[in-house]
Amino acid sequence: MFCTKRITEDLYWVGVNDRRLAMFEGVYSVPNGVSYNSYLLIDKQTVLIDTTDKAMTHRFIENVVGMLGSVQLDYLIVQHVEPDHSAALKEIINLYPDVKVVCNDKSLSLIKQFYDLDIDSNAYIVKENDILCTGKHNLKFLMAPMVHWPEVMLTYDAESKTLFSADAFGCFGALNGALFSDEVDFNKDYMDEARRYYANIVGKYGTQVGALLGKAASLDIEMICPLHGFVWRSNIKTIVEKYSLWSDYQAEEKGVMIAYASVYGNTENAAEILAGKLRDSGIRTIMYDVSVTPSSEIVSAVFRWSHLVFASTTYNAGIFITMDALIEDLVAHNIQNRTVGIIENGSWAPTSGGLISAKLSKCKNITFIDKTVSIKSGLKIHQLKEIESLAESIISTFPDVKKAISNNSESSIAQNRLEPATMFKLSYGLFVITAKDKNKDNGCIVNTVTQITEKPFRISVAVNKMNLTHDMIIESKEFNVSILSEKAQFKVFEHFGFQSGRDVNKFLNCKTENRSENGIVYVPNYTNGVISAKVSESYDYGTHTIFIADVTQAFVLSDDKSVTYQYYFDNIKPKPAISKEQKKGMVCRICGYVYEGESLPDDFICPLCKHGPEDFEPI
Ligand code: FEO
Repeated sequence: MFCTKRITEDLYWVGVNDRRLAMFEGVYSVPNGVSYNSYLLIDKQTVLIDTTDKAMTHRFIENVVGMLGSVQLDYLIVQHVEPDHSAALKEIINLYPDVKVVCNDKSLSLIKQFYDLDIDSNAYIVKENDILCTGKHNLKFLMAPMVHWPEVMLTYDAESKTLFSADAFGCFGALNGALFSDEVDFNKDYMDEARRYYANIVGKYGTQVGALLGKAASLDIEMICPLHGFVWRSNIKTIVEKYSLWSDYQAEEKGVMIAYASVYGNTENAAEILAGKLRDSGIRTIMYDVSVTPSSEIVSAVFRWSHLVFASTTYNAGIFITMDALIEDLVAHNIQNRTVGIIENGSWAPTSGGLISAKLSKCKNITFIDKTVSIKSGLKIHQLKEIESLAESIISTFPDVKKAISNNSESSIAQNRLEPATMFKLSYGLFVITAKDKNKDNGCIVNTVTQITEKPFRISVAVNKMNLTHDMIIESKEFNVSILSEKAQFKVFEHFGFQSGRDVNKFLNCKTENRSENGIVYVPNYTNGVISAKVSESYDYGTHTIFIADVTQAFVLSDDKSVTYQYYFDNIKPKPAISKEQKKGMVCRICGYVYEGESLPDDFICPLCKHGPEDFEPI
């Protein structure tokens, strides 16, 4: 039975998923499978865009025939001849002998190289900016050589503002029912695989990807249909911005990736100590054993992080086998613009460090930290200073981070932490954010509503993911902001802020007839204005999602002054009543919850207001 998905009124996904493939291109593990996307446009004339892999041809043909029925296929556009997208070419031509195979000169010769196929009579050769009119749609062809093969071309449909992007903007992972990136939590669940796909498949060709981005910038694009992974119809900026960084070999994040090769654990030990020193200074670190983690994951991490440390034992007078393979892989992927530190080990003739730096010197704009640590067999106490010195040199390239190396006493670490109290100097307001689903109204307190633009009126708000209201906004893409005034009493904050809508119905005993035009309830008392908004974009920021939203309605309820965070602390929040027995402990600045213990666990979350340890202070 065919299994397809509708994308627009006349465009269908007719691709397939492969969850049995162990190694993509024979080298990249794909534990979550992979999709081979193909698209069918049913216009006055019918157009198939690319085919599929040999292993999936049967199911793919079922999809195409299932959609076309007795209708003929007029065109097959071959954007990319790599066999994971062209293996069903012969079957398609056998089924539809009159089909025109739309390709360029290079693809034609590659098709002939790969397949015993008399293709000339079917071939329909196109060049840059040629347009194929299919009825309502005009398909324009854009050459994108070396993204990822020399024959690659993209197809742009101005009618639907869709870019069929071949390998660009693809992602590893089979599609599990969802076709669009906005149907999943892409940043959390798929961005790593999108990066691994980019880095390993097209990472070497940053210049060519940059050229493609340049062409794309001149197009009005509302949807991107790649050959692997999800279709992008919203938040396109998210993936385009990542491609811009990756193609320019700019790191996404400041932090240190430490890759080590260790036969008996001694090189690993040195790497671990270095990681600990860096963390003490608040620098983010991630570690990989190159003999355990597949190279494709480490290459991907290298594209992500700004600083790299390679720690390797010496083996056969060279670099350890798996580290050598990784370094060669990085050079082949054209990695650039990174700061690199090195630890070498060798019981009688350590040479791996010099060999690693010689190889990486072939890459552009690599800054080596001039403090290579050389170990003979195992790190000794007198060498700790060398590790500290390497750490200090790395830290000195993080301008926002202070040193906390040699004396890692608590006071020294505390000194170097960010002062959370600074954040309370910001002049926040306080708001009730309300949203609804089919069965329920809900609301929570936030302090993060900000106007972004005036024309049009647009606001942003960051909402904690633990709040039910957050999930409702993700689902419905709409919310109201009730702006709290100085008349708001503590019970309002208690009601909306210190209990979860997952446990109680916050509107059970409230009047709910006060609704704005979007049907969402607002809080009429203790507030001075209401804003209704529709989410246009959302960004995943770990604990919170930032929603960018267009204002659809806004009205004033009173002339009372808006409450600020400071006013809340000074005049509304009751001072915590601490009994004599509770001499030790921490109290939440936000809601007054008392934690009886000398220090809070790092991952502690206030059970009442969901704030973290940074909002607690000693009693
Ligand atoms: Fe999925 Fe370059 O092919």
